[in-house]
Amino acid sequence: MNTLQVNPMTGEVFLRLPAPHENIIITPPRDSDAADLVLILNDPRVYKFLLEPPFPYYLHHAEEWLEMVKKRSDEILEDLREGKTVVDGCPVQYIREVQPDGTDLLLGDLSVTRNGWMEVSDKELREKMTKENLEKPIGDPTIVWTIGDYLRSSHHGKGIMSAAVGMVINQWMIPHLNAHKIHTEAFEGNMGSVRVFEKNGLKLLETVKVELVGPGCGRIEGMHVLEWERPGK
Ligand SMILES: CC(C)(COP(=O)(O)OP(=O)(O)OC[C@H]1O[C@@H](n2cnc3c(N)ncnc32)[C@H](O)[C@@H]1OP(=O)(O)O)[C@@H](O)C(=O)NCCC(=O)NCCS
Repeated sequence: MNTLQVNPMTGEVFLRLPAPHENIIITPPRDSDAADLVLILNDPRVYKFLLEPPFPYYLHHAEEWLEMVKKRSDEILEDLREGKTVVDGCPVQYIREVQPDGTDLLLGDLSVTRNGWMEVSDKELREKMTKENLEKPIGDPTIVWTIGDYLRSSHHGKGIMSAAVGMVINQWMIPHLNAHKIHTEAFEGNMGSVRVFEKNGLKLLETVKVELVGPGCGRIEGMHVLEWERPGK
């Protein structure tokens, strides 16, 4: 129906990373992911770089989150089944490592959503920009998208997220979202995250002063802002 592959045993859709990461797939969320999310999101090498997940991250947080993202993924898959080719998000977002015995290990999350300008400190302006962006019709080339990501710390630094972000931009966001603009942020000093985006064509625009407090990351005082414009514009 599109660039997604289908697991013949389970019927689950997935995207597979190119070599040398062919053992890495990205699938929709599963109810069984909750325990792994709790493990990953209570690891300081992960949560300290994230603003939104609660900390400590309890099983009920994971269950509520999964219910929400699963609903979103199911809705997009339904649109695709009905023959739509341009949709309002990416139905696959959980990165998994396929093991030699065929089982898989949850590695992390790569989510694609409409942007919310987290770094804009003027609340009224931020809400206005976000509302306008949310109100745009599906497929509108002026929608500004954002990418959020994290990986299990045992798998940092192996090139996995760089490859995953590249694949999702090229195989999903361009053909199925009609994405023309991507806007991302990373906490000041999170050079791993900045590099992942830069390696995929996003440009570091600025580092802004912000006053943000997150449950796990503490007080954030600076945010790198990156943007991508579709080549050929
Ligand atoms: C940021 C994160 C997603 C990167 O994923 P990853 O798979 O480890 O990244 P990659 O292995 O693809 O590395 C990408 C680049 O960043 C560089 N890099 C990775 N960690 C780095 C660090 N701590 N400092 C500087 N550069 C770093 C790598 O060297 C590589 O660049 P290169 O190819 O030019 O050498 C992962 O480290 C993570 O989950 N961190 C915690 C959560 C987080 O920060 N999420 C992003 C929030 S904006």
